Amino acid sequence: MSSPQPMLEVCTVVPAVSGAWPLAQRLAEQLHCRAVRLATEVNSPVALFVDHDDLWLQQQGVAQVSPVRVDFASPGLQHRRRGGQNELLGRAVGVKGGERPAVLDATAGLGRDAYVLADLGCSVTLIERSTVLALMLDQALERASISAIASVQLAASRMQLQPGDSRDYKTSEETVIYLDPMFTDRRGSAAVKKDLSVLQALHGSVDNEDEPLLAWALEQPVRRVVVKRPMKSLPLGHRKPSHGIKGKAVRFDVYVL
Ligand SMILES: C[S@@+](CC[C@H](N)C(=O)[O-])C[C@H]1O[C@@H](n2cnc3c(N)ncnc32)[C@H](O)[C@@H]1O
Repeated sequence: MSSPQPMLEVCTVVPAVSGAWPLAQRLAEQLHCRAVRLATEVNSPVALFVDHDDLWLQQQGVAQVSPVRVDFASPGLQHRRRGGQNELLGRAVGVKGGERPAVLDATAGLGRDAYVLADLGCSVTLIERSTVLALMLDQALERASISAIASVQLAASRMQLQPGDSRDYKTSEETVIYLDPMFTDRRGSAAVKKDLSVLQALHGSVDNEDEPLLAWALEQPVRRVVVKRPMKSLPLGHRKPSHGIKGKAVRFDVYVL
């Protein structure tokens, strides 16, 4: 696999407390970006704040800034789990009866969907090409592996991170590829929009790489490809899916191969 994309000047690392300055410098070196001592010195679209046992993204230059973390034990994810809202994604990848497919999440992002799938019992390979997100996912998985919540620990044991570009990955055990491209007209809660906004700031403008990614996925030796789409949008690349599974805000287009 090729190494993940360096973050260039999109992200700056800032210590959350002064004692975390050496750690901030080390992570900045790893991410190929700048570290500054104070939040007021940040002049990139996104800042990555680091503490000894925590790290979070904060978008710059927007009115209401709130932190974005990768935390599999977060109340939001646990609430989503209890509310049974994960069933649609499960159905889309083929969770049924005793069947728990091995899923390649080719657009891991903040790892939320991957966690949902792992929590439903699937083994999940997470691929993320952004170095900063890959770092956050890695640390979140480490924390989840020793979580006090047994279900979080179990889900973490089913998740495996591969930093890099999905198109360089050779599928082996995975039978399903899941894609959640960076579509702009994403509906949903304010929290979902806030997360998407940070991801977009981190990646610069939305690129046109989603259609080639679907084309790649459809050529892989898997049984199905699932694409998350905004509810009323056309299928990605105008490729008609075998069927769609509709939720309130999103639709999962399923390509049975
Ligand atoms: C909308 S986010 C996915 C959010 C994710 N489903 C979640 O639940 O948090 C899309 C992510 O896919 C990543 N991505 C896009 N193309 C990729 C590729 N070819 N290989 C690996 N990651 C990719 C982007 O860096 C971005 O973080």
